[in-house]
Amino acid sequence: VELEALNTLHVPARARFYVKVHTSDELVQSLNWAASEDLEVLILGGGSNLVFAGDFSGLVVRLAIRGRRWEHIEDHKATLVLGAGENWHEAVLYATRAGYRGIENLALIPGTAGAAPVQNIGAYGVELCDCLESVTALDRKTGELVVLENAECRFAYRDSLFKQTPGRYVITEIRLALSRTRPLVLGYRDLEEYLADTAETALGPLHVAEAVMAIRRRKLPDPDIIPNAGSFFKNPVVDSATFESLRERNPDIVAYPQEQGVKLAAAWLIDQSGWKGFRNARVGVHNRQALVLINHSGGTGADILKLAEKIRQSVAGRFGVTLELEPGIVGGTGKENP
Ligand code: EPU
Repeated sequence: VELEALNTLHVPARARFYVKVHTSDELVQSLNWAASEDLEVLILGGGSNLVFAGDFSGLVVRLAIRGRRWEHIEDHKATLVLGAGENWHEAVLYATRAGYRGIENLALIPGTAGAAPVQNIGAYGVELCDCLESVTALDRKTGELVVLENAECRFAYRDSLFKQTPGRYVITEIRLALSRTRPLVLGYRDLEEYLADTAETALGPLHVAEAVMAIRRRKLPDPDIIPNAGSFFKNPVVDSATFESLRERNPDIVAYPQEQGVKLAAAWLIDQSGWKGFRNARVGVHNRQALVLINHSGGTGADILKLAEKIRQSVAGRFGVTLELEPGIVGGTGKENP
């Protein structure tokens, strides 16, 4: 099966076997079959956070478990339950249009509900872990469906138990604790600027979602039009001493203090290293957000990874900071991962 249409970078790659599953029973059956054939398995949601470095010789399982329902509706609170295959952005619109708050800042993030906890999606001051109640997942070690509460998911910036134990869990459903009354999160600079003319009391979650959508559309390329995988690098965290010496040499450096250390804007580091808007015949760096790599025309996963490696080396050479890739790398020989 050709995977080009199943990854938002639209790089070509083939899977030896492919199945689309609509229920957890179908998922279990498919995994059992793969085990009996001794095949590697790749679980695929929206394909928006991975790079195919080459063909995949195992079974690709496209998770298409659908369903949206409300549970525990009381006063101003409710739990929204989403099948792993639900489109994330549509779920955000569904919840915010119903007047519920919690995920409005995460509008327009590509991908599926089931993939959202894996990298703990985050934007404009909110992370999924701020309102995720629990997930249901198939534990491939025991073959059982388990419910993992928020605290068990070991969430951190763009990180979770699911990233830390690759291959062990397949998320089938997620539960979000939403509220009609929780305060809106408006502190992120772009958002604050965008909403500056409106009184905070006049704002609801739909206004925030719409503002986030407008900001994202201004800066980030729509993967349906310009193939990309969102931020290609994580924002690196350095210790305070490293930060101070960087700031001495670069007074304009963009950084956010953390509980431990300082998070640097990778986009700024890449931009300062001269890569913003760079392109060759096939791939390049977005001209409005240096964190985003783009497949302009017929680029392969290898082309993208080669460019990413050049950027990493250039940033490391200039600032002494090593950037970590954000998307997962699959297929090929596995040696492509820098
Ligand atoms: N900047 C530059 N050059 C650029 C872009 C940005 O110098 O080309 C500087 C700006 O000064 C800006 C700073 O970098 O103040 C930060 O940029 P921005 O606010 O656009 O956010 P980011 O740190 O680049 C992160 C997330 C995004 C998320 C935004 C908004 C990561 C890796 N990325 O980007 O997430 O949408 O914040 O919250 O944490 C994603 O993960 O795919 C993603 C798009």
